[in-house]
Amino acid sequence: SNQTFHDGGIIKIWPPGCTIFAEYRHHAERVRQFTVRQDDVWILTYPKSGTTWTQEMAWLLLNGLDYRTAMDIPQTMRSPFLELGCLVNEAHRRAANIGDTVHEVEMLQSPRCIKSHLPLQLLPEQLWTVKPKAKMMRFSPQIIYVARDPRDVAASYYHHHRLFFGYTGSCEDFIEALLAEIVPYGSVWDHILEFWKMRHEPNVMFNTFEQMKKDLPGVVQRTAAFLNCTLTSEQLKRLCKHLSFESMKNNPSVSHEDEMAKLRGKSTNLNGKIEPFMRKGEVGGWKQDVTPQLEEKLNLYAQKKLKGTNYILSV
Ligand code: A3P
Repeated sequence: SNQTFHDGGIIKIWPPGCTIFAEYRHHAERVRQFTVRQDDVWILTYPKSGTTWTQEMAWLLLNGLDYRTAMDIPQTMRSPFLELGCLVNEAHRRAANIGDTVHEVEMLQSPRCIKSHLPLQLLPEQLWTVKPKAKMMRFSPQIIYVARDPRDVAASYYHHHRLFFGYTGSCEDFIEALLAEIVPYGSVWDHILEFWKMRHEPNVMFNTFEQMKKDLPGVVQRTAAFLNCTLTSEQLKRLCKHLSFESMKNNPSVSHEDEMAKLRGKSTNLNGKIEPFMRKGEVGGWKQDVTPQLEEKLNLYAQKKLKGTNYILSV
């Protein structure tokens, strides 16, 4: 399909050869030089891998399980998307009411819970150089990476493009573009594997969407320990309930409804033709979206990328 994914076009950016919106080149250096704080928590993912889910978990753990604020203030404000304002040009930013998101994150009170989809090499350099102060228990900044089976990412990203960018190509066209690594943020496998290599760093936690589906209480407990929080069994139960798909789907603070309306310049009524942000939340749902031929291509792509790594797809 010759349909572009975005008005601004997409480009390959110097290392790591990541495909990203053309506008980003004007902001890349500023983001690389971004001042990281010792008590930051960074939620890092390839798009559609369980970012929103993880942000909600981490924000609540960091903020003493303050459900009232979590319901009252949209997640996009509590846990901002660092580079959102760097992806589109000024005219589009104005139309979509997107501000200088990097500045917004700079102004945020600590402890910040920051979302980014940038691949490792485009992230702030200080993520790896800011060290914990003497006597501080916690290594900082803390990084929570979330990976998801790229086949589910592919299907979810296709629906995301329909929802946010009015993409009208077929699912097959979209997945071909993903395999060619010309969708925004480039190669999903390269993204995952870069962070997989860093998983033993003391300030990195490597989670997966599939683990969260299989054993949410276990992931919540491990994440709580990583963030130095303790939870009673009652607190754990309530948090898992808040993080369930049903409850997040019905929670306007996390369902991205305002954002969808803004970006599409339309009402939130999707007329049943386009699926909402909280779409299915399943593992293996991609099978319903792809033909056997495409399935084979996706599997070959994974084989090629995984060669020589010890990454285990947890499905
Ligand atoms: P699907 O499109 O497969 O349904 P991100 O936040 O990184 O954009 O990821 C969005 C994906 O996570 C969507 O996947 C969405 O439904 C799923 N998701 C969000 N919250 C979830 C939850 N509480 N439980 C399961 N899946 C969830």
